[in-house]
Amino acid sequence: MARLLRLDAGNADPKNSISMTIQRAVPKTVRSSGKNQAPVEQRVGIVGLGLMGQGIAACLLANGHDVMGFDSDPSKHAATVRHAATALAELKRQKLIDVESYKGWRPRLHAASSLADLAGCSLVIECVREDLELKRSIFAELDALVPRRTIIASNTSSLPISLLQEGRVAPGRYIGMHWGEPAQIMRYLEIIPGKQTSKATLRACLRFGISCGKEPAVLKQDIRGFLSNRLMYAMLREACHLVESGIADVETVDQSFRNDIGWWALLAGPFRWMDLTGIPAYAAVMEGLLPELSTGTDVPAMMQRMVKRKALGVANQKGFYPYTKASAAQWEKDWVQFTYDMRKLAERYTPKS
Ligand SMILES: NC(=O)c1ccc[n+]([C@@H]2O[C@H](COP(=O)([O-])OP(=O)(O)OC[C@H]3O[C@@H](n4cnc5c(N)ncnc54)[C@H](O)[C@@H]3O)[C@@H](O)[C@H]2O)c1
Repeated sequence: MARLLRLDAGNADPKNSISMTIQRAVPKTVRSSGKNQAPVEQRVGIVGLGLMGQGIAACLLANGHDVMGFDSDPSKHAATVRHAATALAELKRQKLIDVESYKGWRPRLHAASSLADLAGCSLVIECVREDLELKRSIFAELDALVPRRTIIASNTSSLPISLLQEGRVAPGRYIGMHWGEPAQIMRYLEIIPGKQTSKATLRACLRFGISCGKEPAVLKQDIRGFLSNRLMYAMLREACHLVESGIADVETVDQSFRNDIGWWALLAGPFRWMDLTGIPAYAAVMEGLLPELSTGTDVPAMMQRMVKRKALGVANQKGFYPYTKASAAQWEKDWVQFTYDMRKLAERYTPKS
């Protein structure tokens, strides 16, 4: 029988806000088997059914939740149904969900005709594009439409949660939940408390993330870009710097990255990697190398040129590499299959609690 998970902001009083000490109450990272956990039944609202909203919807449906999806573009509802059908069929084929979850998903996906339809949700996940004013206007509407106990999470990739919760009704129920794509497959989830986020909100989101098969990483403090994006953008800046300086071309930089960092990064993070390979050597290299790494603050020229060319990558077959329609589709297909393979490897090698 399904276990019912209490998921609400509880005491959303900012006096009960997150501080550094929250880490004593909540583990830094919580590991899970990644397979369907004990099912939980929650009605979760998703605002914005684009790339991320559709993936998150599929993940929630696969884990027994009800989804109430809203998008200002009504055609996105049909796209979400199509995406969920494909994603859940593949999860079943990969034996990551049971037959019961698969058969029962369609009646649990609802189309909201306005934000007011989200009033019965215990959690709302905002997934509109990365635009501070747009996100703030949606939160202002939600403040007036959903009960104070409803948790409101933003999937922002970079905006500080403390900024998003400024001026909100019951700011303690606002939090960052940063999902990865494909959301229904990856174990990645970052949970980011803003300055005013309540402990009850944080705990509820942590439990919810685990119930969705994630291994949530909980930040101690709000910071722009959170953890994974700060690490990734430091790497992207250096990658552009190496190409722009004529040290190597795009393909060679990719090749080196795949065969070194890409080789170990699923098994070990940077610190485990230094433990495995000997710490003093890294300190010695840092001394000479750090002063030479890029510290540029402008968007690299090669990125600006790509944006000017309207290069979206495989999505419109214009990227750093040449694509045909068929090769772009093959890369997208390979990416999904690779993600399943990686998940199986991660479950085999990453210790579980
Ligand atoms: N793309 C990624 O890999 C990724 C990863 C993690 C987080 N994010 C973050 O997730 C968020 C969404 O990104 P995405 O890539 O899914 O964007 P997207 O452009 O694919 O989707 C955004 C959706 O929001 C809808 N929308 C716009 N205005 C709306 C409104 N007022 N009300 C309801 N819906 C509205 C659009 O119609 C669109 O369907 C962003 O904040 C992004 O930074 C993206």
